[in-house]
Amino acid sequence: MIIFNSVEKLKNHLDNLRNNHKTIGFAPTMGALHQGHISLISIAKEQCDLVVCSIFVNPTQFDDSVDLKKYPRTLEADLELLKVANCDILFAPEIPEIYSEKELNDKKNHIEDKTWTCGKTIDFGLLDKVMEGAHRPGHFNGVAQVVSKLFRIVNPNKAFFGQKDYQQLSIIKSMVKQLEMPIEIITCPIIREADGLAMSSRNRRLTEEERKEVPSISKLLFFIKEIYQTHPINQLKEVVANYYAKESMIHVEYFEIVDSETLLSITDFKNSKSAVACIAVKLNSVRLIDNVILY
Ligand code: PAJ
Repeated sequence: MIIFNSVEKLKNHLDNLRNNHKTIGFAPTMGALHQGHISLISIAKEQCDLVVCSIFVNPTQFDDSVDLKKYPRTLEADLELLKVANCDILFAPEIPEIYSEKELNDKKNHIEDKTWTCGKTIDFGLLDKVMEGAHRPGHFNGVAQVVSKLFRIVNPNKAFFGQKDYQQLSIIKSMVKQLEMPIEIITCPIIREADGLAMSSRNRRLTEEERKEVPSISKLLFFIKEIYQTHPINQLKEVVANYYAKESMIHVEYFEIVDSETLLSITDFKNSKSAVACIAVKLNSVRLIDNVILY
């Protein structure tokens, strides 16, 4: 595996590969890698000649500075996992390679920054207003900002994202369409621990006691999937609202059943071709999300 920290050197290397007609797959990450990330690399390896993974803890997508500070950084272990997965290239830039000082300080306006949208303004409509967007202001601006920059650097044929971050996938698909980027976005299934917990870099911040409780999140989602055909949506929401006792260490931030295209809340299954149940919970300072496609 070749490791690049410099944008220029990576670009030159990838240009050479492209001139030799190699197809490039790309999996952007923030590191603290687990088998969920590695599954993206494996799927990319099957579909492309070469796979680039990036590790960059993107400061502009953190609405909470404590969360940014506490975000796990485990580069040595990440390198081992990537080598075992036969990843071809790792791009691990420092912040100044990606952002100017102005961009870092100018948090509110970066969605309209002409340098990263090449003069185009992006409008996500309601996609970035609901669920995660409502609870983490500016989060998706930061995600779109960094992913568009990374896409312009790597210029992949295909980019691989996990269904785990369902709303993020919708945002990326919309961004690629609006910026007319010739990149195919591939959705990869959620990888879970044996007890059903969706793998996440944040899981390692859970205490032992919390870790014992969190498999209940996916159990709840799977239960909803089992019963949704025989229950109206307001009853499904009640099931979730009553699932955790007040004194439980798990607090549900939101539970939504949404149309899988528009991400708008569904009131009647008849009106949507496909639906996904999404949940966000909080345990002290750790925030976890999960989802299940109902149909
Ligand atoms: P990160 O949370 O590191 O996730 C990187 C990619 O791994 C995302 O596409 C995410 O959906 C996927 N992923 C995480 N857990 C997964 C799991 N259990 N199963 C399958 N895929 C999983 O998402 C980000 O980083 C950032 O927002 C990023 C896109 C890199 C932009 O900074």
